[in-house]
Formats: sequence, structure tokens, C-alpha cells
Amino acid sequence: MPTSTPPPADDRSTLQSTPPLADDRPTPTVLPSASEGSLVSHRSITSFHVGTTYNRVMASYLWLPKQVAILFFWVFLVFVLFVGMGSAQLSDDYYSSTCPDVLTTIESAVETAVSNEARMGASLLRLHFHDCFVNASLSYFPQSFSLSIFLNLLTQFSSMLVFEDSQQGWISSEYFLKQGCDGSVLLDDTANFTGEKTAIPNNSLRGFDVIDTIKSQVESVCPGIVSCADILAVAARDSVVALGGPSWTVQLGRRDSTTASLTAANNNIPAPTLNLSGLITAFSNKGFSANEMVALSGSHTIGQARCISFRARIYNETNIDSQFATSLQSNCPSTGGDNNLSPLDTTSPTSFNNAYFTNLQSQLGLLHSDQQLFNGGSTDSQVDTYSSDSDTFFNDFANAMVKMGSLSPLTGTSGQIRANCRKTN
Ligand code: HEM
Repeated sequence: MPTSTPPPADDRSTLQSTPPLADDRPTPTVLPSASEGSLVSHRSITSFHVGTTYNRVMASYLWLPKQVAILFFWVFLVFVLFVGMGSAQLSDDYYSSTCPDVLTTIESAVETAVSNEARMGASLLRLHFHDCFVNASLSYFPQSFSLSIFLNLLTQFSSMLVFEDSQQGWISSEYFLKQGCDGSVLLDDTANFTGEKTAIPNNSLRGFDVIDTIKSQVESVCPGIVSCADILAVAARDSVVALGGPSWTVQLGRRDSTTASLTAANNNIPAPTLNLSGLITAFSNKGFSANEMVALSGSHTIGQARCISFRARIYNETNIDSQFATSLQSNCPSTGGDNNLSPLDTTSPTSFNNAYFTNLQSQLGLLHSDQQLFNGGSTDSQVDTYSSDSDTFFNDFANAMVKMGSLSPLTGTSGQIRANCRKTN
């Protein structure tokens, strides 16, 4: 039995950002000071001891900022309308007139890819997850209506004017640009552009060539119409279906980013070293409940992981079936063999089913984070439910995928439709 303690698979602890403020935290009441004239109501002015020289001066002093505030309000309103005209909602029939064959084109390309290699279905599903979960604005700021308008504004202007290079500028655009399901994960690095492909959680992503193939087929039926972000969303759904899982209606109309954020990719995508509370936090930062996190984790019913991602678990942890741990050690030595693969679902790695959850009940989870879902904590009962009721898992999974696919898409006139998913136009 090896005795050395291997390094953590994916140690991003130093990269974690400061936790965001809770969304439901009450807004503190700020009493205006005398110099904050625009915030002082008419009533508060009249409540002064009228008649003193001081208050007459103050009243005239406060008058000007009030007009300025009104002016700012109208300017703000015009901007809101401007931004509103540039944005739109996703819809299920988005390409029905502009590219009616898009769904069948993607479906048949995914079927071909998955029949060539079953694992490709898992890889395409993971690509969509890693595209959508990189969304700096939600992580760094609490969500609120006015804030999202503010960020939307900055997005519009920053992409038009200032922050063309996402890694530079006097304020890094990664704090402002919306980076959800926007195809940013597909952008290649260049001499003066750093994308997300070299982020720690992304360095084993695969399937980029399959997306290229699909994109060129889609471009040949309707050039310049369908975004790479939408192709990812549809390919993820078709992959799950091709491997026997549930289907859902993919909402469409996403546009592609012109930027990417390596930092946000490192900070936002959950690491396999996380405990249950960390997993719940990582998903709640994106607006997902613990239940939705468990449902989405069921994706690990397909696909493979590298030795480096589960080495610490099979040598050091106690909540793992000992025969299972031993059987994995031959292909995952305590040193070396970092890229050797093992299936995430040891019983049926190429079938999308509920076996992942049944495995967890027997301490057969491959990743540390997997087994956290069934380790005597608050999510055990949901694992039990999914293990005995695959319909419920399928239904919850499909709903959570629709929600994941709606994370901060670029719509309307934001972003662009890339001609080549690997680079901006
Ligand atoms: C709950 C937090 C999650 C963590 C910590 C996590 C972590 C990981 C890790 C470490 C791997 C193996 C990477 C490697 O060693 O190369 C992996 C693979 C995979 N993940 Fe996750 N993941 C999570 C959630 C998700 C979600 C929400 C989805 C999809 C919606 C997903 C889909 C996949 C798939 C399909 C694979 C296999 C990919 C392949 O075989 O190419 N994961 N994940």
C-alpha cells in the first residue's frame, strides 16, 4: 500500500474569489448627509428649522443637486431603453424561419460523433457546462435589477468602446462582461488574446473538433445565422439523448462573445476537491439550489476522469469501497500516470441513467466531490430518491439543464455570430 500523500487533483484554493454578497441581504438604509443633496427629500428640507440663515443657504444649496438628480434619472432611463432594445429573450423557435434545418443538422452530427466514440457525448455535455458556468458578473456582485441593468450597460459600452482586450485595460472587463453560455470556452488563445482553454478545470476539455465539424455543416446550410453558443447547447442535449438520457426543449438565440476570462473560468467552475458546502455554494453563486446541483451532478453517469482528479481519494479517503479503491490504483499509481482514465460511473459509463446515484449509495463515487453528495449530509435523501426513481432524476436533470443553458446569454445585438467558433470575427 503506497504511503505517500499525492498532491490535490485540482487545487484552486488560492484562486477562489471572495464569496459574493447574499442576494437576499437587506439593502442598508443610508441616511443622507447634508452634502448629499440629491438624496435629501423635499420633506427633510422643510423639517429644518425654517428661518435660520443656515437653512436658507442649505435649501438653495440642495436645490441644484436635485435638478442634477432629475437629469441623471432621465439619462438613465434613456440608457435603460437603449439597452432594452439591444437585448431579447431566448426562445424555442428562434431559428424556425432563418435556419429551419439547424436542429436536424446538429442532431445527426452528434449521433455520428457519439457512434464513433461514446465518450464524446460526455465531452460535449461538459463543454456546455464549462461554457455556461463562467459568468463573472454573478460571482463578483450580488444580483439585483438595477445592478444587472448597470452591468448590461457596461457590457454594451465596454464591448463597443473600451475593453476589446479582456486581459488589459484600466479596469479588467472580466468584472463586467456577461460570460455565461456565450461560446467563450471555444475561443483559442492567440498572441494577444488569452481564452479559457488553459484554465485549470478546462485543460482536459475535449470535443472542440466535433464542434468545428458541426459549425461548418451548419454554416453550409445557413451561413452567419447560428451561434456557437447555441450549437453547444443543442449538442449537449443531443448527446444526452444519444446515450439514453432525457430530452428537453433547448431555448435558442444566444450570441457569441468576443471575449473570454481565464480568471473567471478558474474561479467559477467547481473543483473535485470541494466538500458538500463548497459545492452548494458554487452552484448557489449561479442561482442554483442544492437540489439542482445534485441533479446536474448526475451528468457524471457518463464520461471519464483522469487519475489526477481522483488520486487523493483512492489513496487517502475512507468513505470509498475498499475493493473499488484498490481496483483503481493499478491504473492510477500514487505517482505518475496523471492522465490515465477511469469511468465516472463504474457500472455503466456510456449509458445516461441513474446508476451514478446507486453507486454513491455503495461508496463507489469516483471523485471526492461525487461522494460528498452521499456522505451523511443533507443531500443523501435526494440521492436515495434518484437511485430508486430514474424518472424523477431525468425530469429534474432536464429542467436544471434548461436553467443552466439560460445563464447570462448574450442576446439581441450583443456579441456576434462567429463564423469560426475558435476565433472572433
Ligand atoms: C458538481 C460539481 C462538479 C465537479 C466538481 C465536476 C468535476 C469534474 C471533473 C474533475 C471531471 C473529470 C475531469 C478530468 O479528470 O479530466 C469531470 C468530468 C465530467 N463532468 Fe463534471 N463536475 C461537476 C459538475 C458537472 C456538471 C454540472 C456537468 C454537466 C452538466 C458535468 C459534466 C461532466 C462530464 C460529462 C464529464 C466527463 C467528460 C468526459 O468524459 O470528457 N460535471 N467533472
